[in-house]
Amino acid sequence: MNKPFTSTTAADLPAEDLVTEGRVHSAIYTDPAIFDQEMDRIFQHTWVYIGHGSEVPKKGDFRLRKIGRQPVIMVRAKDGEIKVLMNRCLHRGAVVAEVESGNTNFFHCWFHGWTYDTDGTLVQVTKEEGYEPGFCKKMGGLARPPRVEEYRGFVFACLDDSVPPLRDHLGQAADLLNYMIDVSPTGTLHLDMGVNKTVYRGNWKLVGMDGYHVNYVHASVLESWSDDTDAGIAAMHKNDPFDDKALTRTRDLGRGHVLLDFREHRMATIDKYLDFLRGEPGGEDYLKSMNDAYGEDQAKHNLSLAGDPHLGVFPNLQVIGNQIRIVNPISADETEVLMFPVRLGDVPDEINTLRLRQHESFYGPSSAGSPDDAEIFERVQQGMKATVNPWIDMSRGLHREVVEEDGTRVGKISDETTQRGQMREWRRLMKGA
Ligand SMILES: [Fe+2]
Repeated sequence: MNKPFTSTTAADLPAEDLVTEGRVHSAIYTDPAIFDQEMDRIFQHTWVYIGHGSEVPKKGDFRLRKIGRQPVIMVRAKDGEIKVLMNRCLHRGAVVAEVESGNTNFFHCWFHGWTYDTDGTLVQVTKEEGYEPGFCKKMGGLARPPRVEEYRGFVFACLDDSVPPLRDHLGQAADLLNYMIDVSPTGTLHLDMGVNKTVYRGNWKLVGMDGYHVNYVHASVLESWSDDTDAGIAAMHKNDPFDDKALTRTRDLGRGHVLLDFREHRMATIDKYLDFLRGEPGGEDYLKSMNDAYGEDQAKHNLSLAGDPHLGVFPNLQVIGNQIRIVNPISADETEVLMFPVRLGDVPDEINTLRLRQHESFYGPSSAGSPDDAEIFERVQQGMKATVNPWIDMSRGLHREVVEEDGTRVGKISDETTQRGQMREWRRLMKGA
């Protein structure tokens, strides 16, 4: 255990030797063979986030997504239901949809012209006389993941039929998703404001849920916010929520789902946030509609996080700020991150404009926050090429972590409780448990 082996042999070692309670072998970030194992043991055997129902509002609307490296189509079929289809022609295997989004009556394979309905049914085989009678019908349609389920508009799929129901898998993570959804008075989200995309030269597991880095990687942003009267979502950064004395926490909710927990911290200053909203265009109307919909106490609770649960749902979904984020692993040292800002349903336009501007300022292509994260992930990936001592430390706060009755592990905001939670699930899945 903890032998100084080189990364070239690490893929042959059991997962428990690569990930221990307080440290992790860097081969899990750098070794292509381990990456291949992850695509199989993790992405084929757990629920993977596909997209939000509002991305395909009309019949025929579709979006191209991935389960690990496997191409899938999320489509609103002619019956009005959302389907997830493997994007792979039954004939010779070409993709049948190639643009990342659109609206169509049929999917068409450009290799030999086979045509599929929006629910995946094969409806036409060209030059059919070359096959036995009834061939088209017998072929059926595009393959589908055996499991597709939805939680309040969040669509997930799983390639393994033996997994527990999505709601059970999400556990407390589902309650946290509600914080984003129920900051709309009607509980509706619309993902129709485009997407920010980042590709960084680093491993997919490096992304996010780290309360320790903020004061260092984002020091310049925090400095610029310190005398910013335009608080908004940035209000969460007042009173230094990243100080270990703050009411903020890190949480491991189980099954790799983790949280930077700002709930208590935000509720302590909720009146200040409501005052801020009242001063914004559309704010009074927004607060009234929230109070009418939920009652004053529940409305405060719903508004406390400003729609930002700061939640990571293992392995590929994060709900942070005003965005739904998809993490797409490309290779051991390359990752794509898609950031979809949400538009709240049934709130004044000015409120959505405010939220979009806030999203852009930290996460947009020319923003102050996200590019710093991508840069530091690339520096990590460069550093990990040194394998003389290949271990990465993840022990921060291990000695002071508290396990609550329901099994939730809780740490200070700068503790690596969140990283350890993700790694625990990584190890479970990589062991095939
Ligand atoms: Fe960051």
